Amino acid sequence: MNGRRIFLSPPWTGEEERAMVSKAFDSGYVAPCGPMVEAFEESLARLSGRRFAVAVSGGTAALDLAAAHLGIDRSWTVVAPSLTFVATVGPAWHRGARLVFLDSAEDGNVDCSLLDDALVEAARQTPGKVLFIGVDLYGRCCDYAAVSRICEERGALFIIDSAEAVGAESAGRPAGSAGVAGVYSFNGNKIATTSGGGALVTDDPSFAAHVRSLSQQSRERFPWYEHREVGYNYRMSNIVAAIGIAQVGKLPEILRRRREIKERYLAIPGLRLLPPVPGENNWLSVALMPGMESRDALLDALEKADIETRPVWKPMHLQPVFKDCKVYGGEVSQRLFERGICLPSGSGLDDADFARIEETICTQLSRM
Ligand SMILES: Cc1ncc(COP(=O)(O)O)c(C=O)c1O
Repeated sequence: MNGRRIFLSPPWTGEEERAMVSKAFDSGYVAPCGPMVEAFEESLARLSGRRFAVAVSGGTAALDLAAAHLGIDRSWTVVAPSLTFVATVGPAWHRGARLVFLDSAEDGNVDCSLLDDALVEAARQTPGKVLFIGVDLYGRCCDYAAVSRICEERGALFIIDSAEAVGAESAGRPAGSAGVAGVYSFNGNKIATTSGGGALVTDDPSFAAHVRSLSQQSRERFPWYEHREVGYNYRMSNIVAAIGIAQVGKLPEILRRRREIKERYLAIPGLRLLPPVPGENNWLSVALMPGMESRDALLDALEKADIETRPVWKPMHLQPVFKDCKVYGGEVSQRLFERGICLPSGSGLDDADFARIEETICTQLSRM
């Protein structure tokens, strides 16, 4: 061991977050409502360029509420990139939708050339009931303009899973601003965290109002508990929202730090990174090794130096649970999984941490 363990993307919090939590606590709103939740939602609406934001208990909860609002069920086809975290499609899977996966382009994001065919075929299977869930992989926005155009042409609904992309942009458009709704995650490992939390952003007032109501057990405005439908308990707490306000306030500094880390990785001789995407937030820097063996050797070497890393997401079409789902292509995302390593990218990474990571990587590369 060479010192403390270096984590992949630990929370970067300090006095600002502590002060906001104290303020929330002192206000008496130790509850899933309160002024911090409202202020956090306002800051997220500004950040996303959307009219409305609804703060909830996680990105998965936001995706679940979007699926509930849209009425996703067995009669729908949900198309999504294969290279993502399972939560992108979890809510649709639980609702019985037919899942279809698309391969990646070389930058890891969805291969847009597959989208048109997939949506045409999906519309044949489930006419008028097709949803595309786009993903901004590792804080790198997919091509919002191209995806929006194809979805519109083919009559498919589009929501964007920007769980990993808070603060990123697609050709000047903020992450989360495409489609009928966008989703953010504020999990502990994300670029901005509330310890655990998420949000849905949208321009559609009825989408926002319904999701807000669903997140609070769908209570009607009566003195007693009256329900026209059954909701969920997904609302974000006031205490947690206080952390989020401080984190969003620090986002420019967080983005600067993550960019610096990426630049340091880029400067390591012989280390190849996932091709850059303009406007990315550099949530995680991802290295590409020549093959699976060298990937595993680097993973092992870093683990021995007490440095946390992780292979790139294992594509959904390779997951046992989705073995019967249709996939378009699949070789590129499989290759990225077999060769890709997510490297430590935390905003608090210091010179000594980076020197340890760099030394381990260079030693390993010199053995190849
Ligand atoms: C692409 C993607 N979608 C959804 C989620 C789910 O977010 P959460 O962990 O906040 O539920 C995550 C992250 O965890 C994610 O990476």
